[in-house]
Amino acid sequence: MLEIIILAAGKGTRMRSDKPKVLHTLAGKPFLEHVLDRSMELNADKVHVIVGHGAEMVREALADRDVNFVEQTEQLGTGHAVQQVLPHLNPESDTLILYGDVPLTKTETLAALRAKVSSASMGLLTVTLDDPMGYGRIVRTNGNVTAIVEQKDASQEQLNINEVNTGVMAVSTAHLAKWLPALSNDNAQGEYYLTDIIAMSSADDVQIQTAQPKDEYEVLGVNNRLQQAELERIYQGQIAEQLMVAGATLLDPARFDCRGTIEVGRDCVIDVNCVFEGKVVLGNNVQIGPNCVISNTTIADGSIILANTVLEDSSLGENCNIGPFARLRPGSQLANHAKVGNFVETKKAVIGEGSKVNHLSYVGDAEVGAGVNIGAGTITCNYDGANKSKTTILDGAFIGSNSALVAPVTIGKNATVGAGSIVTKDSEEGDLVIARAKQNNLKGWQRPVKKK
Ligand code: UD1
Ligand code: CA
Repeated sequence: MLEIIILAAGKGTRMRSDKPKVLHTLAGKPFLEHVLDRSMELNADKVHVIVGHGAEMVREALADRDVNFVEQTEQLGTGHAVQQVLPHLNPESDTLILYGDVPLTKTETLAALRAKVSSASMGLLTVTLDDPMGYGRIVRTNGNVTAIVEQKDASQEQLNINEVNTGVMAVSTAHLAKWLPALSNDNAQGEYYLTDIIAMSSADDVQIQTAQPKDEYEVLGVNNRLQQAELERIYQGQIAEQLMVAGATLLDPARFDCRGTIEVGRDCVIDVNCVFEGKVVLGNNVQIGPNCVISNTTIADGSIILANTVLEDSSLGENCNIGPFARLRPGSQLANHAKVGNFVETKKAVIGEGSKVNHLSYVGDAEVGAGVNIGAGTITCNYDGANKSKTTILDGAFIGSNSALVAPVTIGKNATVGAGSIVTKDSEEGDLVIARAKQNNLKGWQRPVKKK
């Protein structure tokens, strides 16, 4: 059985924020949620989050997650924090201790640490740093870890140790229950240090087995917004790398942002400054121009998205051509070979195979068949101020420019709507629909002249 404790009670003063630190985000997701996601991947039986500063906000932000919140009303140290959870732990379990502001630890690293726990051993994640300033130092005797000494309590000799405590540890709950009550705050900071259990473990002949992360960033915590930005770039760099390894070209991996997940087929090309959110799936040979924002959207093989396009909760078939400057809002579903051009907005719109909406249109609450041509400036008038209604345009219809289709309305198959029409009545197959004032030409018209 595995229980995970996540320390998240600190204030994060250096963020200079009204929001608790652990709710600040990396790749659009709170640090704390990154840590929770790792906990889920480790199949933890229970996750306890220690909250203190901004506890209400943290609880609210994680309301839909299956975690046990434990309040630490006064922050008297990391040991004191874990003491608060002790009554909630199953004595049979192993406990893994994580930090809500250390978002990038890999699941493999944590699993390897957890594997070191037994009735005779515990796991401690350490890292060797060129500059160990500020960290607790790992004290070894004959190679065995015997204690952790905090920076402020360390002797000159101990300060020279480069191996430091990441804070992450795994230990049997039975041991934790024995050692935690024995902590004292008789130290330079007057805090109950969790790190003091290491000396207790050593004294009880429970071997402290160390593990190291593959990469140093895995154990970096965020204390200010500069570190936040650094970790963000590291994270984005990893996703960019994965995509390139998977066969996509990123014109500049340093100008790429994914705030969710993205899957790519072969030979996709992603230009600079695109943002991907939620779940994005690209088929083979998809090209994304610069400055696009794509959320929760699936794009099939061969489609081309031109610059400055925004796609949200949409799905695109093969060989579609979108943008530049198009906006597909939720529920836009394009069949193969559809075209949506510049300054076109679609919403809840099904657009059939090979149909085109090339310029300056709004197509909302609409079902458009195959082979339809919607002229520039066409608007589906879907909203009467109270209710939304649907526009249906059947296969092969041609909508002249600057037409207003007042829903609910149906345009017949292969029907033609004259430019500038305001269409309020249904039409049938092959109809020519003209709904505009008749043109009048007055012969010999004299222009007014300026009065003297
Ligand atoms: C701690 C470790 C140190 C290690 C370093 C790694 C101790 C005593 N020291 O030091 O060995 O090198 O982390 O970053 O553990 N927190 C609470 N409640 C508290 C105190 C802290 O929830 O009462 C949380 C903080 O919000 C923070 C984390 O625990 O997320 C670490 O606390 P912090 O005070 O920053 O410990 P460090 O001094 O960095
Ligand atoms: Ca810290």
